[in-house]
Amino acid sequence: MKNAPVGFLDSGIGGITVLRKAVGVLPFESYRFFSDSLNNPYGDKEDREIKARCDEIADILINKEGCKALVLACNTASAKAAEYLREKYADTPIIAIEPAYKMVHDINPGGFTLVMATRGTLESEKFHRLYYKYNNNKTDLLACVGLADLIEQGREDELKAYLENLLGKYAGKVENVVLGCTHYPLAEKEIKAVLGDVMFFDGADGVARQLKAVLTAKDLLNPSEEKGTIIFTDSSPDEETRKQKEERFFRYLNG
Ligand code: DGL
Repeated sequence: MKNAPVGFLDSGIGGITVLRKAVGVLPFESYRFFSDSLNNPYGDKEDREIKARCDEIADILINKEGCKALVLACNTASAKAAEYLREKYADTPIIAIEPAYKMVHDINPGGFTLVMATRGTLESEKFHRLYYKYNNNKTDLLACVGLADLIEQGREDELKAYLENLLGKYAGKVENVVLGCTHYPLAEKEIKAVLGDVMFFDGADGVARQLKAVLTAKDLLNPSEEKGTIIFTDSSPDEETRKQKEERFFRYLNG
């Protein structure tokens, strides 16, 4: 069991921004990453649809691949399906990400803050609880419909235009930007180009630390001192797409 892999899931390759941190903290673990690009984006889907998809993926990762823990490397899936999955797969530790709004409260609560996330995340009960607990009364919540998709597909010119249009009015006025979708850290440079010099907050470091804490507490750390293996799977039926995603995934992992 200790040398079993850790499963990661996301609606696409965005979760790589979380896996990267986990590998940094836990290099001797093996990982299985499931990218659900057949069904992305998750951001505008009904709760029951997200639960059903995450359930299918959790079943593959836990029951077929034998993963000893599961990381929901997707804010939307975490907001909509974490509770359900924790009940159903009660024997497996499930670690969920959330927008790093508490970090703003801890680090720079006085600054004007923009929370960027999918509509699904921002409308979720889980996010509302977090928001009202740490509200600094200087925060705008911004549903970035379609942004994860542009990043997922690597449509760079459209991405620039989209960000200028969405964020232009905030240029020079924002101090803190919460990247509340795991795809968004892949566009940090482009976001900065519009907003200027802002501080970014995302939940990836916290998830990596929590994964380590949970594996340690449950005595599940892999005792090996060799680098673990990382296997990427994408749900697209199209082989070319799967190959492209895998290639980008490993480029981001190593870059
Ligand atoms: N990467 C995801 C998140 O963190 C989901 C993006 C999407 O599929 O809409 O929310």
